[in-house]
Amino acid sequence: MLDSTKSQHPGTRLSPKLFEAVQGYAYRIAGIELQDGKQEMVAGRLWKRARALGYESADAYFDAVQRDKSGELELDVIDALTTNYTSFFREPAHFDFLKGKILPQLRSRQQFTIWTAASSSGEEPYSIAVTLIEALGETAYRQAKVKASDISTKVLKRAEAGVYDEERFGSLGAEWRSRYLLRGKGDQAGKFRFRPQVRGMIRFERINLMESLPSDGPFPLIFLRNIMIYFDRPTQERVVAALTAKLEPGGYLYVGHSESLNGITHSLEHVQVAVYKKAGQLEGRAQ
Ligand SMILES: C[S@@+](CC[C@H](N)C(=O)[O-])C[C@H]1O[C@@H](n2cnc3c(N)ncnc32)[C@H](O)[C@@H]1O
Repeated sequence: MLDSTKSQHPGTRLSPKLFEAVQGYAYRIAGIELQDGKQEMVAGRLWKRARALGYESADAYFDAVQRDKSGELELDVIDALTTNYTSFFREPAHFDFLKGKILPQLRSRQQFTIWTAASSSGEEPYSIAVTLIEALGETAYRQAKVKASDISTKVLKRAEAGVYDEERFGSLGAEWRSRYLLRGKGDQAGKFRFRPQVRGMIRFERINLMESLPSDGPFPLIFLRNIMIYFDRPTQERVVAALTAKLEPGGYLYVGHSESLNGITHSLEHVQVAVYKKAGQLEGRAQ
């Protein structure tokens, strides 16, 4: 059990040896580069997990992580070390580009799938699904699919449930909400859940981009937003090359607006801020 005097630990100290071990681990498992200077953040997060799971120190927790064969603690620590921040219609220019430039090319297809490769707690895939419905009307329910993946099973579970606090929807008004959401009652008051038809457009899957790629595809559009910042240059290059192979000819790759492919070798054409295109032409016919 946890010693109460130790729970007073400020959580901001980490031996250089432990920090180095965590750096190596995060890089090996998830491709995440924890730069020097992140010691305090890492110490705080490890200590928080140690305390929550009943370990007496960050060292003891990380020891257990390394010895764990079940894979559960691996998920736990990677979750603790990554940032899952996201929001609905984040970086709206991407959704305008999808509506105005990409969907007109896909309209005549029987079916197509858009992949979001770091989908976090679901705000991104639901924003894509709603954009598809707004652009294509009811046919979107059978014509368009969204594949949503992330390394974290914790955020994927939240995404799959599709339940969000009212505040998450910000300025999306009452009419928008009643079109796409169901209002929670009883102990779910103040929460909203996406309607089953919207949820039905999205397939969730755990994918660690360091390990594997989806067996399906290629895709006309891949979202790879606000994840590249965690990767060093060689990892960025590897991930972009792997995802380029998963794009259709003429397909698009989105990165975060504060990210870019400047400085890495790739074969994509820069179209506008945070939008890249593979050579060729998207075809209108069925995938
Ligand atoms: C800051 S969130 C970005 C969410 C969303 N794309 C957006 O822009 O709002 C970064 C996500 O990348 C995920 N992630 C980190 N490393 C990963 C990896 N190796 N493979 C897949 N997902 C990873 C994290 O779990 C987290 O949910």
